[in-house]
Amino acid sequence: MKGEAMKFHLLIFMVFLVTLASAASFPSVIIVGAGMSGISAAKNLHDEGIKDFIILEATDRIGGRIHKTEFGGHVVEKGANWLHGAEGPLKNPMYEIAKQIKLKSFYSDFSNVSYNTYKQEGGLYSKEEVDAALDMAESNEDYAEKISERFNAEKGKDDDMSLLAGERLNKREPKTPLEKMIDFYSFDGEQAEAPRVTSLKHIIPRPEFSLFGEGEYFVADSRGFESIVHEIAKTYLTYTNDTVNDPRVIFKQVVKEVDYSKSGIVTIKTEDGKVYTGQAVILSPSIGVLQSDLISFKPELPFWKRRAINEFSIGIYTKIFLKFPKKFWPTGKGNEFFFYVHERRGYYAIWQQLEMEYPGANILFVTVTDDESKRIEAQPDEKTKAEAMEVLRKIFGDDIPDATDIMIPRWYSDRLYRGTFTNWPVGYTTEKHNNLKAPVENVFFTGEHTHAELFGYADGAYYAGASTANEVNKLLKKKMSPRLGSLYWWM
Ligand SMILES: Cc1cc2nc3c(=O)[nH]c(=O)nc-3n(C[C@H](O)[C@H](O)[C@H](O)COP(=O)(O)OP(=O)(O)OC[C@H]3O[C@@H](n4cnc5c(N)ncnc54)[C@H](O)[C@@H]3O)c2cc1C
Ligand SMILES: *[C@@H]1O[C@H](CO)[C@@H](O)[C@H](O)[C@H]1NC(C)=O
Ligand SMILES: *[C@@H]1O[C@H](CO)[C@@H](O)[C@H](O)[C@H]1NC(C)=O
Repeated sequence: MKGEAMKFHLLIFMVFLVTLASAASFPSVIIVGAGMSGISAAKNLHDEGIKDFIILEATDRIGGRIHKTEFGGHVVEKGANWLHGAEGPLKNPMYEIAKQIKLKSFYSDFSNVSYNTYKQEGGLYSKEEVDAALDMAESNEDYAEKISERFNAEKGKDDDMSLLAGERLNKREPKTPLEKMIDFYSFDGEQAEAPRVTSLKHIIPRPEFSLFGEGEYFVADSRGFESIVHEIAKTYLTYTNDTVNDPRVIFKQVVKEVDYSKSGIVTIKTEDGKVYTGQAVILSPSIGVLQSDLISFKPELPFWKRRAINEFSIGIYTKIFLKFPKKFWPTGKGNEFFFYVHERRGYYAIWQQLEMEYPGANILFVTVTDDESKRIEAQPDEKTKAEAMEVLRKIFGDDIPDATDIMIPRWYSDRLYRGTFTNWPVGYTTEKHNNLKAPVENVFFTGEHTHAELFGYADGAYYAGASTANEVNKLLKKKMSPRLGSLYWWM
């Protein structure tokens, strides 16, 4: 090589080094949100050797919608509560971790509904009456399975109908208040939205059961369901005692802008004026957040993406916890749940006691969903307590004591969640769902809503994070190789 050419090559090589160095001075990946999917995504990047990520989390904790709280002297779950079992063909990673850390969970016995269903003005329904409504629900589920199988066999087509349309076609649309309560318990109790708006094809058969088995285990442990998230995080984040203490996890950072206008770079702005730059971003906030205006995009996301986001659905599922000075409900085997039938579908319908989990705690909780959740979130707790007490007095008589404490999670009003978990709406195609999880340039999307089968569940969030990390990893490796290629070319 001649001297001049040598110098030129050296110069180019130095420019290349500077480029590399500046690339290294900002994190390769910015993850927004430290819920199950964000923590799972970061773990997978870490395992692939990408360790220069940062996680920006709006709150001061990891776990997101998996969140324990103290109530009446015990730890209860405001968010995710049930683990899917391990009797299915697939090992459930959540269940495996829970087993490993000996997280206390209790098999939920849903088998005795016929003995525990109360009328609007009080008194039990007969076993025969409830059994007839349960048979109707079972027939509807069987019919839905047949229809779903037929839809799924039609290659290239993406046909669907609502769960309600299936019930009508099966000539068993729930009509009486009792039938509607059982319908609410079977569908809204799981999907948090009504059969009228819910996809038959994407809900039935239920993959969480066909994959992991029928059993559902209710977590009641002072470490909380969130200790599963911590167990995953501990494999790659530094901890001091039981709290995350890793410079890569930055708490109290509410992301408000994602700027991807410059090729290969993403700039993130937070509400407190901080700016972070990376080669790619993974967004894990709930779809409720993406549907709101909390985060703006520069440039605006393309229409196909905004459409996929805004047409998917997030429901609201609210567990209202009540503490009493004494117990006045039946306990023991077969009495874990009781049900209340009201002319207003879903009005304080599903009750559960925690005697098995926390003996002597005298805690009950009742589950409401959707519009009832919105109504209850918007009113003072005292009003809700009075409504719940009125229901309990219809069931157990006027002599029962008032609740001494009440706790109502408000996931819908919280701008960081805007709902509890997603539901697949009727008419939403698989193509649209592919668009929902598809990246836009170097802006990637993860979260429970991006998992096509286990959407809505902690398991889904876990798998979604891994899958998104895998895509990001591919992008970063692809970006690396042409650069190395140019180095060889110059030399
Ligand atoms: C009441 C309720 C009951 C449930 N029951 C069950 C159950 O029994 N079993 C089950 O498997 N699943 C259940 N789930 C669902 C399960 O909790 C979720 O699917 C899962 O936790 C979602 O994880 P994620 O990472 O997708 O989202 P999230 O947990 O919502 O994580 C997103 C994170 O992003 C943060 N964030 C949001 N906006 C911003 C922003 N602008 N800037 C920075 N950070 C931001 C949030 O604070 C959060 O930490 C339940 C959920 C709720 C709420
Ligand atoms: C961690 O726990 C130990 C023992 O309980 C305690 O002495 C120490 O102060 C804790 N450290 C922090 C940073 O909380
Ligand atoms: C169902 O509940 C009834 C009424 O409390 C009880 O007598 C019965 O033992 C329970 N059955 C089962 C199988 O748990």
